[in-house]
Amino acid sequence: MTAERLQKLIAAAGIASRRSAERMIAEGRVTVDGEVVNVPGVRADPALHDIRVDGARLRKLGKPRRYVILNKPIGHLTTRSDPGRRSTVMDLLPHSFRSLVPVGRLDGNSSGLVLLTDDGELAQRVTHPRYRLPKTYYATVRGLPEEDVLERAQRGVRVDGEGLRLDQVEVIARFPHRAESKRRARLRVTLRGGRNREIRRVLSVLGHPVLELHRTRIGCLADTGLTPGGWRKLRGEEVDELRELIRRCAGEPAAPAPPAGSKPAAPAVQPPAAAFVVAIDGPAGSGKTSVARAVAERFGFAYFNTGASVRAVALAAMRQDLDLDEGPSLRTLAFRVILDPEGRVFLDGEDVSEAVRAPEVSAGASRVAVHPELREVLVERWRQFAAGGGVVEGRDIGTVVFPDAPVKVFLDARPEVRAQRRSSDEGDRDVGAVQSELRHRDHTDSGRAVAPLRRAQDAHHLDTSDLTLEETVARVAELVETARSRSRN
Ligand code: DC
Repeated sequence: MTAERLQKLIAAAGIASRRSAERMIAEGRVTVDGEVVNVPGVRADPALHDIRVDGARLRKLGKPRRYVILNKPIGHLTTRSDPGRRSTVMDLLPHSFRSLVPVGRLDGNSSGLVLLTDDGELAQRVTHPRYRLPKTYYATVRGLPEEDVLERAQRGVRVDGEGLRLDQVEVIARFPHRAESKRRARLRVTLRGGRNREIRRVLSVLGHPVLELHRTRIGCLADTGLTPGGWRKLRGEEVDELRELIRRCAGEPAAPAPPAGSKPAAPAVQPPAAAFVVAIDGPAGSGKTSVARAVAERFGFAYFNTGASVRAVALAAMRQDLDLDEGPSLRTLAFRVILDPEGRVFLDGEDVSEAVRAPEVSAGASRVAVHPELREVLVERWRQFAAGGGVVEGRDIGTVVFPDAPVKVFLDARPEVRAQRRSSDEGDRDVGAVQSELRHRDHTDSGRAVAPLRRAQDAHHLDTSDLTLEETVARVAELVETARSRSRN
């Protein structure tokens, strides 16, 4: 064997990913022939040198660990093999992944994100309730659960002698129907433990049997971009981030303690995980939506479009023939609007993501957006929707809603470019007319007394006039990477 970089050798031995290995080296936890090596790039040959991590000799050169995520369709069992020869998740993967093991269980009737790996230690940390890693599910249930039902689900219930509870459950859409048997609700559920069929059992005992269940997230991993049955390998940074998140959820120190006698590792205990928000503000037509969506997809983040909720309030008001200039009476409409983490907007349970794009709703939205009574409720709701972090797009996200967001971007473009983009989005409407509407909306959005459109002092200004979408996304992605590595160190 020839000499290799130390971080590569450590990663190949399955001790840590390359990035974590680099950190271990920087922390002085790696020795070669008894000498601490704390600078990057040093090469060694395990056949010739005594390489140690935290005092333990790097002996076996195992194969690097592998990590795959899969969007499991209904009907496949989450197991490596089934004695009854039913389909399993392994049937969806290439043969070369047959040594991987699915982490935790997602029952056959449920769909969604499954992690598979040959890293037993990480698998244990993802599933064991002690580490408290959140997993997010969307459930469609029979009936319309009342607040007290949700509270009981969160307090805990006994099912077959077992104490079960959901860590967090909220209704994101209600589907009322005249016939009681046809009423449905869509719930978002967070579990940090996860006993066998826990969500189904809790909701069923409370009178709301689950009709559909889909898991969208395991910690920071998301099913975004994976079609049913689709899979992909995780990148090293994604695995690092998952490890880091588990550590934070479990309240563990940022990294294992170094051996006695060596320099102490920097911070003893990480502060609790603050939600990682990417705030994207800017005027209409600056490209916020396409950029925010693409960035969310790239990193597997949730995506919230706050403008869509302002539009949904305007739509509700217009449907009820309310006066759009009457702030106080619009306030309660905000409670009927829900943003989901895929960028959709619901009004009274109806998906109105398309309906709110109509030009008359755009005009209504900038009128309702000026009312402080309404904004107060909206801002509070936006903070709740995005409490778990994600890409949040709007006008005042970096200034008012999440002033501490670690990444703030103010997107802009020349007025004629913005008008051209909007016109193509709206089926090639007359560019001149679109430009004059935009001018009017810019004026209202920037001139209003409460939370006017303006760049936060610490926001990165990005003029997208001469950039392609890919170039803009790449710039924002760079800012996200930098902020994430800063928050890791
Ligand atoms: O981004 P958009 O065009 O969908 O926004 C619709 C309207 O809502 C627009 O007039 C600006 C307003 N808005 C706001 O005042 N605050 C936000 N955070 C988002 C949008």
